[in-house]
Amino acid sequence: MSFNTTDPNMLADWLTVGPASRLARGAHETTLLGSRVRLWRDEAGRVQAGAADGRMLRAQERYGYLWVCPGETAEPKPLFAFPEFDEPGRRIVDCDGIGVKVSGLRMVENFLDMAHFPYVHSHFLGEVPHTEVAPYKVSIDEEADEIWATECRFYQPRTSGAATEGVEAQYRYRVMQPLTAMLYKTSVPRPGAQDAIGLFVQPVDEEHIIAYCLLAYFDDELSDTDLIGFQHTIFGQDKPILENQRPKKMPLVAGYETPTRCDAMSGAYRRWLKKRGMTYGAINA
Ligand SMILES: [Fe+2]
Repeated sequence: MSFNTTDPNMLADWLTVGPASRLARGAHETTLLGSRVRLWRDEAGRVQAGAADGRMLRAQERYGYLWVCPGETAEPKPLFAFPEFDEPGRRIVDCDGIGVKVSGLRMVENFLDMAHFPYVHSHFLGEVPHTEVAPYKVSIDEEADEIWATECRFYQPRTSGAATEGVEAQYRYRVMQPLTAMLYKTSVPRPGAQDAIGLFVQPVDEEHIIAYCLLAYFDDELSDTDLIGFQHTIFGQDKPILENQRPKKMPLVAGYETPTRCDAMSGAYRRWLKKRGMTYGAINA
């Protein structure tokens, strides 16, 4: 076994190792679950992947990203659905990734948290005194085994790069895998529709990640550079906060962490992880 975990949540599922554009000039090497992984295209153009010990890994290209299933025996479930990726009228913009020294579980939990907007993303995603998180609905899609938060709303002075005035943004969140999540939020150029933002986390190891961001937006005015720049500004504000969290792994033990982040979505995410027996990047005892 070349990967440093026995957690089936990591070994028997699809993990991203970065955008497919990494293969534009030949092979790509990166670290996944503490071990080196190499990816390349075969003569037919199909993505291939090999572990550090020479073992071939299951690999696929989807949503403009590379996905690897590190385990040997279990059959991975199908990769999550992302219908907005192929929806006509949407623009796909890859923001690439940012390295963060924290557990991927902490990164996803932060992505789901609206309460930090006015403090960490002041003048962008929130603003004092609009600090209260209004009640919203949390549900589990049992068939897909995904978590949804719906009917979320938050006053945002500058909800996206296209925003020129404050709006009460409507949000929906979705967790598809322990390390992937989507956010759907009010589209500024098309207020009746929602833009989609994907967060795909590559677990470099238990306390180091690369957090990738992929947009499926209705915007047809802003340049890619502007859209990417806005996301990098937001991620850049989260990065130091995430890296200062102690412990860097996510406690999944009752009573371990003072429930300052005990909002409904965070609680649902932690319970969902516990039910799955999540150990990678987590503290269980
Ligand atoms: Fe944030």
